[in-house]
Amino acid sequence: MTAELTSPLFTPLTVRGVTVPNRTVMAPMGRQFAQAHVPHPDAPAYYRRRIEGGVGLVITEATGVDHPLSADNGGTPYMHGEAALAGWAAVVEAVHAAGGLIFPQLFHQGMLHGGGTPDEAVDSLRPSGTIGTPGATSFATHYIERARLPTRPMTEEEIADAIAAYARSVRNAVTLGFDGIALHGAHGYLIDGFLWGASNQRTDRWGGDVAQRTAFAVEVIKAVRAEMPEHMPLVFRFSQHKSSNYDARTTESPQELERMLGPIVDAGVDLLDASIRRFWQPAYEGSLMNLAGWAKKVTGKPVIAVGSVGLGFTASDTFMKTGSEQADDNIALLMERFNAGEFDMIAIGRSLISDPDYVGKLRRGEAPTRFSRDHLSTLV
Ligand SMILES: Cc1cc2nc3c(=O)[nH]c(=O)nc-3n(C[C@H](O)[C@H](O)[C@H](O)COP(=O)(O)O)c2cc1C
Repeated sequence: MTAELTSPLFTPLTVRGVTVPNRTVMAPMGRQFAQAHVPHPDAPAYYRRRIEGGVGLVITEATGVDHPLSADNGGTPYMHGEAALAGWAAVVEAVHAAGGLIFPQLFHQGMLHGGGTPDEAVDSLRPSGTIGTPGATSFATHYIERARLPTRPMTEEEIADAIAAYARSVRNAVTLGFDGIALHGAHGYLIDGFLWGASNQRTDRWGGDVAQRTAFAVEVIKAVRAEMPEHMPLVFRFSQHKSSNYDARTTESPQELERMLGPIVDAGVDLLDASIRRFWQPAYEGSLMNLAGWAKKVTGKPVIAVGSVGLGFTASDTFMKTGSEQADDNIALLMERFNAGEFDMIAIGRSLISDPDYVGKLRRGEAPTRFSRDHLSTLV
């Protein structure tokens, strides 16, 4: 790896009214260090270090919206309540003091509420009263056994309340001075629970084919956009895989992807974030293009790719404790695909946990500290 090789990443990108200084993004990563849903006192320094290390844009850990079932584990922060908002104010201040940009990733766990506290009673918001088809997962087996028992579908009132909860939390984030908003529409949580056919079998206006299943996402996007100043970008993360089934797929073809992303983009999304486990993973048969590349092709919007930068094993391997922890110098491949225009930004997850200076080292062509699962136990 050389500085010359990675130099194309170090060019700015303007999204709506915000210019990101380079093409690197800190991927959203729930670290479970919050205390009773309040960001940990070390969170400001944790995020600031990544900016000082050269990251162009921080997307925070998944953060619960203002709804009682948005986040089951007290280690996950909220974007509501005085103490949590004071914690986030300190994070925003630290990142801005270092000259950085930060978007909160807002989520509601939806049908998977309870997976983070598997010994407690399962109570969750489910589009159709089901968690879809479970598969390979790091969730506890006894949680999945209980969670797979059908409950009841969300009522109209619950749907309206959930949408309003996103809007309230976005209002809070805007007041705190965040630079943009990132919505978690991936991994089987509430928004994705509506997008995925296995978990959304509704026959009313919230269900149907892949385009009709975007109705909930579209209403959330419209509601949050109404709370955001004109210049502020909105990022939308989506995925094929679910936390409850790493092999699941929401779309089977670029045509289906287009039918899903079209309404989502039209509702007011500026930047699409395709959550994939390896940035070189082909999305559909017959092409080597990844999911981010297809998203860009079918919508014309800028896209973020992600997945195993610098690593020879995936995030699901990390969670399921499968596979070894080998490094992989895949930066030449990354640059080949970035230079070909497949994606506009690259998000980096685990490599940034183990090395806050990972991006600076990419820029200078230096060897980073290698990721190990052990690094998940400290917030530094
Ligand atoms: C510890 C950890 C926590 C994560 N938490 C989130 C999260 O809160 N929201 C999200 O969208 N993705 C989450 N992810 C997925 C990452 O954003 C990223 O897509 C994934 O780790 C692949 O990138 P990497 O291979 O560079 O780590 C998490 C991943 C890890 C390792």
